[in-house]
Amino acid sequence: MNNLYFIFLCICLSKTSSATDTLLSSQNITDGKSLVSPGGVFELGFFSPGISKSRYLGIWYKNIPVKTVVWVANRGTPINDTSGHLLINTTAGSLALLNKNKTVFWSSNTTKETQNISPVVQLLDDGNLILRDEKEGDNSESYLWQSFDYPSDTLLPGMKLGWDLRTGLNRRLTTWKSPDDPSPGDITWEMLLHNYPEPATFIAGKEVFRSGPWNGELYSGKPPGALPAVNFSFFADEYEVYATAGMVNKSALGRMMVNRTTANPGTSPVYYYRQYWIWSEEHRNWTLYAGYPRDPCATYAKCGGNGNYISQIPSGDQDIYIKVSGAELGGKDDKWRIGVIIASAVAVILAMFLVGYLRLRRRKNLKCTQTNIEEQKQEDLELPLFDFPTIESATNKFSFNNKLGEGGFGPVYKGTLIDGKEIAVKRLSRSSGQGMIEFRNEVILIAKLQHRNLVKLLGCCIQGEEKLLIYEYMPNKGLDSFIFDEMRRKLLDWPKRFHIICGIARGLLYLHQDSRLRIIHRDLKASNVLLDREMNPKISDFGLARTFGGNQTEGNTNRVVGTYGYMAPEYATEGQFSVKSDVFSFGILLLEIISGKKSKGFYHLNHSLNLIGNAWILWNRGRPLELIDEGFGDSCNLSEVLRCIHVSLLCVQQQPEDRPTMLSVVQMLCSQSTLPQPKEPGFSSEKDLVEGEFPLLNNEMSSNGLTITLLKAR
Ligand SMILES: *[C@@H]1O[C@H](CO)[C@@H](O)[C@H](O)[C@H]1NC(C)=O
Ligand SMILES: *[C@@H]1O[C@H](CO)[C@@H](O)[C@H](O)[C@H]1NC(C)=O
Ligand SMILES: *[C@@H]1O[C@H](CO)[C@@H](O)[C@H](O)[C@H]1NC(C)=O
Ligand SMILES: *[C@@H]1O[C@H](CO)[C@@H](O)[C@H](O)[C@H]1NC(C)=O
Ligand SMILES: *[C@@H]1O[C@H](CO)[C@@H](O)[C@H](O)[C@H]1NC(C)=O
Ligand SMILES: *[C@@H]1O[C@H](CO)[C@@H](O)[C@H](O)[C@H]1NC(C)=O
Ligand SMILES: *[C@@H]1O[C@H](CO)[C@@H](O)[C@H](O)[C@H]1NC(C)=O
Ligand SMILES: *[C@@H]1O[C@H](CO)[C@@H](O)[C@H](O)[C@H]1NC(C)=O
Ligand SMILES: *[C@@H]1O[C@H](CO)[C@@H](O)[C@H](O)[C@H]1NC(C)=O
Repeated sequence: MNNLYFIFLCICLSKTSSATDTLLSSQNITDGKSLVSPGGVFELGFFSPGISKSRYLGIWYKNIPVKTVVWVANRGTPINDTSGHLLINTTAGSLALLNKNKTVFWSSNTTKETQNISPVVQLLDDGNLILRDEKEGDNSESYLWQSFDYPSDTLLPGMKLGWDLRTGLNRRLTTWKSPDDPSPGDITWEMLLHNYPEPATFIAGKEVFRSGPWNGELYSGKPPGALPAVNFSFFADEYEVYATAGMVNKSALGRMMVNRTTANPGTSPVYYYRQYWIWSEEHRNWTLYAGYPRDPCATYAKCGGNGNYISQIPSGDQDIYIKVSGAELGGKDDKWRIGVIIASAVAVILAMFLVGYLRLRRRKNLKCTQTNIEEQKQEDLELPLFDFPTIESATNKFSFNNKLGEGGFGPVYKGTLIDGKEIAVKRLSRSSGQGMIEFRNEVILIAKLQHRNLVKLLGCCIQGEEKLLIYEYMPNKGLDSFIFDEMRRKLLDWPKRFHIICGIARGLLYLHQDSRLRIIHRDLKASNVLLDREMNPKISDFGLARTFGGNQTEGNTNRVVGTYGYMAPEYATEGQFSVKSDVFSFGILLLEIISGKKSKGFYHLNHSLNLIGNAWILWNRGRPLELIDEGFGDSCNLSEVLRCIHVSLLCVQQQPEDRPTMLSVVQMLCSQSTLPQPKEPGFSSEKDLVEGEFPLLNNEMSSNGLTITLLKAR
């Protein structure tokens, strides 16, 4: 009797434990069998929806009385008998759904390396069906495949709506055709990759509703404090952009789904295309917690399918959405400050003039022939000498109308040679700080450098105290004239800007590493990047560059030369410059190109943040997208932009040794590799300056982008 009872118990136990959560590669699941998640929350098996007789493989809640299917494998390819079975194809390392004739009705796309693995399938308690290598354990990063990446019409807590930018995977919801047919219907909900990504609802390919961009706390379309039971969140970096909707009470059941549901049947029906349902333990049914869109005019039925959706897309209340821009973070009453800045800048320039003038008097005039340049080896520069009258007539006697702008140490004129060739002439002003040393440096350096991203020196001209440099003419002028101009910024969409960024990086890499001489530019900024007819960037103004022989990469100078807002902390405060101080300036330039905002320099009223500080804060709050220039329109490749922001923050790190070299920068810009997390940047707020030592700049300094030379007081 006891024995019999024991046997009976054994049968019972084996019956109840026959449902397992794991499928091994030697096993299969036939129609009638199922997988049940360890906690008994979800079940995977075969079912027939509504009145349909077809068989589908799907996942539903195990422990609620209302059969609620959350995922379907073979949505559009039903099996018309009960011979379906799911197994692991060990050759391909994938999941396959076959019938008795071995016809494949559905299979998982496994893209990872599948050699030498023992794949197992498991249904988890969050409803995720995963295929993983038995040896890897339960590490979500190493899943070979997961059903959460291929949603049907339901978004469960833990699922992501949005993009994996590395693989191009777009996780989006699609309605069932009808309650009897799970094949993809005409309503979708997916993440749009704009400057400010936001989920949007589409009907038959037409956009009908946007949730409004995520503002850091909620979607602008959602009133603050609404839906306290649901934890909406949003995530974006250069690898992923997605939204999630979890339950605040983790043990409660909730799901977001797309379906055309009439919530108010009768005289004034309201259609909801998307609903959040919460399981009511009390009523033992699903309760509609939220429905979207709620605006009756946003429904297809009321506004009609007259095409007025592509022009008037109902969206969230934009007033709630407050964008923090770098420019607005600056002080407002800067007038007196600008006065002081200009006065001190003038004083500095005058001092430099005096120094330069005294030096000049002690030196003979320099000619562009090698023999006249002492200390240099005998070497043919092959640099054409122009005579002064030629240049004078080419520039209309340096007429005001020909003036292109004011470069470092002198005006630049446009000229046209007799043969029609257009040139740019830099006239080193006698009152400038550029003495013979700088001039000679510039001439020799530029003549030797040949790179498509460096401006080309055509020749020089010296007459008396007149020193002229003749460059190729750049019709599109400086990068600053685009990115900081309300109208012209629109001409630079993201692909063009990315092209410019990569060009500048390559040009700088050449200066640092590839050229025969190792050159540190020391004054890289937007106005020193010129654009040719095809918008190719060319770095200009090497007057301040320094050469080094061999591997010398650092120097210390008594003369700090550069532009505030671009200078690395160690250079501005200690006079120490290196390739890494150029990298810092490149990082600033990158931020400016992305944001369209000027790095205003170190000094701000109200101890407010500057461009770097703003970028750093937004990055750490997971809101880097708010840095992006609105002028991009929809042109931006989010992955690229975010990668550029990431790289820029690596470049402006406080410690020079933490910053990457330009070689790494070029590699990082062009690859998908994982980047290190940036550390705190230098000069992110005025506080840094007040607390830190700042021996050189104890006066108000220029923030207007002028190149300035200072004498170090030691
Ligand atoms: C499924 O598994 C059962 C038991 O392991 C086995 O008898 C059957 O042949 C398998 N069916 C298929 C189609 O592999
Ligand atoms: C099932 O489908 C196949 C082809 O897809 C068809 O040949 C067959 O007749 C169908 N069987 C039933 C019972 O409908
Ligand atoms: C397994 O996958 C391989 C490669 O994709 C394919 O050739 C083979 O037919 C599959 N086997 C089964 C049983 O589906
Ligand atoms: C399976 O194969 C048999 C003969 O090989 C054929 O008669 C039958 O229609 C096939 N069934 C399906 C569903 O393809
Ligand atoms: C598998 O990949 C192919 C091609 O990339 C795609 O067309 C198909 O939809 C994918 N299937 C699933 C289930 O994702
Ligand atoms: C909301 O979700 C986010 C992301 O999944 C998570 O980090 C956070 O802890 C959740 N908050 C609550 C209150 O559940
Ligand atoms: C959370 O949800 C569970 C299941 O619905 C319920 O029993 C429990 O009371 C809830 N907890 C709170 C704090 O609401
Ligand atoms: C979609 O909504 C309709 C109408 O409310 C309902 O009958 C149907 O069951 C819903 N479909 C799903 C898959 O829940
Ligand atoms: C859930 O059940 C309650 C009580 O029976 C009922 O009032 C309510 O309308 C039901 N909700 C839905 C969505 O069916």
